[in-house]
Amino acid sequence: MAQSTATSPRYAGFNPLSPTQTLSNPAMDPDSAPLSSSAAAATTATASAAATATATATATATTSAQPQKPEEIEEEGAPHPELTKTNSNRKTLSAGSSSLNDQNHNQIDDDEDQVGTLPLPLPSINKRTPALLHPRLIRSNPSYTDDLCTCCNCAYSSSSSASSTSSSSSASAAASAVAKQLARSVTATSIMDMPYNTSPSLRVRTTSLNQLKKTADLAIENELHVCPSVMSEELRKLLPPTSETVMTKPFPIRGERTIADCTTPHVIAMVGLPARGKTFISKKLARYLNWIGIATRVFNLGEYRRHATTAYKSHEFFRADNEEAMAIRNRCANQALHDSCEWLLSGQGSIAVFDATNSTRDRRQLIHDIVVKQHGFRLFFVESICDDPQIIEQNILEVKVSSPDYLNMNTELVVRDFLQRIEHYEERYQPIDEVTEAHLSFMKVYNAGKKVVVYNNEGHVESRIVYYLMNIHITPRTIYLTRHGESEYNLSGLIGGDSNLSARGHQYANALSTFIAHQQIDGLRVWTSWMKRAIQTVADVKAPQERWKALNEIDAGHCEEMTYEQIKERFPEEFKARDVNKFAYRYPRGESYEDLVARLEPVIMELERQGNVLVVSHQAVLRCLFAYFLDKSADELPYLYVPLHTVIKLTPVAYGCKVEHIKLPIDAVDTHRPKPKIPGDVSQPGLDGLSGELVAPDGVGKVLIVGDDVATATNGNGGRVDMQAHQ
Ligand code: G3H
Repeated sequence: MAQSTATSPRYAGFNPLSPTQTLSNPAMDPDSAPLSSSAAAATTATASAAATATATATATATTSAQPQKPEEIEEEGAPHPELTKTNSNRKTLSAGSSSLNDQNHNQIDDDEDQVGTLPLPLPSINKRTPALLHPRLIRSNPSYTDDLCTCCNCAYSSSSSASSTSSSSSASAAASAVAKQLARSVTATSIMDMPYNTSPSLRVRTTSLNQLKKTADLAIENELHVCPSVMSEELRKLLPPTSETVMTKPFPIRGERTIADCTTPHVIAMVGLPARGKTFISKKLARYLNWIGIATRVFNLGEYRRHATTAYKSHEFFRADNEEAMAIRNRCANQALHDSCEWLLSGQGSIAVFDATNSTRDRRQLIHDIVVKQHGFRLFFVESICDDPQIIEQNILEVKVSSPDYLNMNTELVVRDFLQRIEHYEERYQPIDEVTEAHLSFMKVYNAGKKVVVYNNEGHVESRIVYYLMNIHITPRTIYLTRHGESEYNLSGLIGGDSNLSARGHQYANALSTFIAHQQIDGLRVWTSWMKRAIQTVADVKAPQERWKALNEIDAGHCEEMTYEQIKERFPEEFKARDVNKFAYRYPRGESYEDLVARLEPVIMELERQGNVLVVSHQAVLRCLFAYFLDKSADELPYLYVPLHTVIKLTPVAYGCKVEHIKLPIDAVDTHRPKPKIPGDVSQPGLDGLSGELVAPDGVGKVLIVGDDVATATNGNGGRVDMQAHQ
């Protein structure tokens, strides 16, 4: 049982992996993403260099290597049984091998005989980073038992891995090895012919069989280093992938979305007096969890009660001695909990948020009995405690006055009635107690996040919830999202790349800085991607700026710097596959929208912690961020309309977010490709609702097009249509 208490957690650090242990100093420095990415890239580069160096030095290394005792090998990690098996097959090496490597093999055999058990260990670097050093090998394939080379125990003859000083017979061996490798690893049909649902790791290569063969011919002429661990990086890239060798991006990519992240269903049960922000927390938490791919639904007891009875006339309904009302309330609570569990059992979702006061020990015990004992689900209580009268009053004014309980009632009366309702609850309220309820898993949030207590944290999902709830705040602020100004590539319809702004893009940069200056935004911070067009767009914006690699545009992999038409022509099946499921589709050697969401999670977390921020990024990235704030589904997300030269202003209100689209008066191309009716079609108009229009959740949204005088127009409200999102 771990308990930790943190004061002002928003300004204190926190390790997301161990929230019960460390609740101080947030680790969400925006710079961390870029740094870790660079570090990963650097590691890869070093490892590759080391690989080449090791491979070229193999002859010397193997000659001088002494056999190790099994115990010594185990210290560094015993070889995989397959390795042992494969090594033992070295005795079948071609007798035609010549030069240094033959000596090596003799040496190896001798040593093996002496040791009597294990063969010569692989060079130590191989053991540490096999994936990097054996990028295209299928070592576990039992058919790969001949022609092993000495440098990495792969499927090539030892002579072919010798240095470039080898004779022409080596070149011929190289040619034969390449041909063998291609024959083994490329099937009769190309990877491009695989069905849409083929695993992303298998689809990652798009090089066709013919291209490979062509490249192989070149390689035979120019390359003697045919073992993948020593061949040139260029040639290695063209070999088909295996499940072991698919290169990863320099940032973590989550696998399939959904329940993989949350195998056991969870009930998150809110606790607390009325007007303590329970519904705010429930809705916001559900939006976040859904966005990261964990299907979550809120079961709000107030809605059950209003559905069950219209008996609410005043606070009297909530008196503890009102038996009739109490019976209704209990029935509703049982029904809501029952529905939560049924929903989880149906497999439709992973997390049910039970939004009710759950303010007595008995009620919580009942919930525990049903959720944990009866169903075997996980249960996590989130108690919101607030003794700041200002926060309570603000809550009542913001959300209770407009509640269906108080239709057409004067605000003053509403506040008075609601305060009395709170008093009825206070008579019976029992905060969660660590002694008498020590078997529960819970967190307590004090005064909208000033302090957080976590108790009996039981796992990954709880940790993520704790971390998220520690970062959110209710201080008013505004988030501005905009794409970079129109770029040179936008003009030619090319996706990706890192081009400069066009002339109109520069005009937008000027207009944006004027617009921002006239907004007079307190404490504004500017975040951009690392791409030139984004950085150029904020060149004149006077505010502290930060660069986030995580804000870079979606990586289109092999389709980078191509037009949609070119992709359709060169990779028709890929192009069609993306239209079938755009959210999940991952570009060959690139990313999917789902990958983007994973990459952007730290950005969202930091955005939640911050005040006023201007985010300058790219179409796909802003769709993901926008979807988070608007609670959009994975199907809608990749088609959200985020036009150039438009500022999207997001202002958190009550349980949602007010959205304004402000189009600055500089023309730009439209880069939006709506969802086609026929997958792969570039000529058809888009489907309704998924086309290039700004559509508010309630369908009434319009764009404000400001006049030439950006400053004047945007200072007023002229023409602007406000849009309320996700209530
Ligand atoms: O590829 C870059 C685009 O900005 C993303 O747009 O996902 O609609 O193709 P798309």
